[in-house]
Amino acid sequence: MSTVAQFSIIFRLSNLNVCICCLLQVLECCFISIDLIILSLLSAVWIMLPAYLPNPIAALFGGGTPVDLGRNFSDGKRVFGDGKTFRGLIVGILAGIGIGIVQILASGAFGWENLPEQTYMSITLLATGALLGDLCKSFFKRRLGKERGTKWPVADMYDLVAGALLMVLVFDSAWFFANMTLLIFIFILILTPILHRGINIIGYHLKIKEVPW
Ligand code: CTP
Ligand code: MG
Repeated sequence: MSTVAQFSIIFRLSNLNVCICCLLQVLECCFISIDLIILSLLSAVWIMLPAYLPNPIAALFGGGTPVDLGRNFSDGKRVFGDGKTFRGLIVGILAGIGIGIVQILASGAFGWENLPEQTYMSITLLATGALLGDLCKSFFKRRLGKERGTKWPVADMYDLVAGALLMVLVFDSAWFFANMTLLIFIFILILTPILHRGINIIGYHLKIKEVPW
């Protein structure tokens, strides 16, 4: 690589550094400490892990009998479509619960008491809610006449967040309010599209997903 190209990369990286430092300073001026920002970011990932995993696992191991058994709704279109199967639903939920159990064991073993405390109830609700949110989204997608696998930008990304968080809010509100803060919620909203798109692009290149969204 030429010296000019190297210099240009270093310049761009240092510009990015300056931007991140400025952003952190602005947040600090708003009386939010860096520690709180980093902890909230980690907490967002920690809370959402049992909800983020079921979708890619369903894409990896799903297939077979569709949840709507191939039936149509009253509008003549499929209830959910062939992209929602019993196997995907069950394996996905079990995977979400599985990663949740690993989280519970890890925080017990390493004493990570600063992170939100996952419980058997919270991980089950998050994993189930994520795939039920996905199922609900497909129901409305079919009503709008969108075929299986077509893009529905915001809904395709936030279906799992809405499903997972609604589920804990309704069935374990004490856990929800003990662990969710506005900053964690904002980080979940920021992280979800980034992780969703990233994982789907990887899945597409590994030929696990038919489309990169
Ligand atoms: N999948 C599954 N069962 C589920 C969810 C997903 O088997 N409950 C599998 C299907 O093979 C699906 C793939 O994971 O095609 C990707 O999931 P997703 O993008 O949610 O489904 P789409 O095929 O895009 O269908 P839709 O348009 O209804 O979202
Ligand atoms: Mg899809």
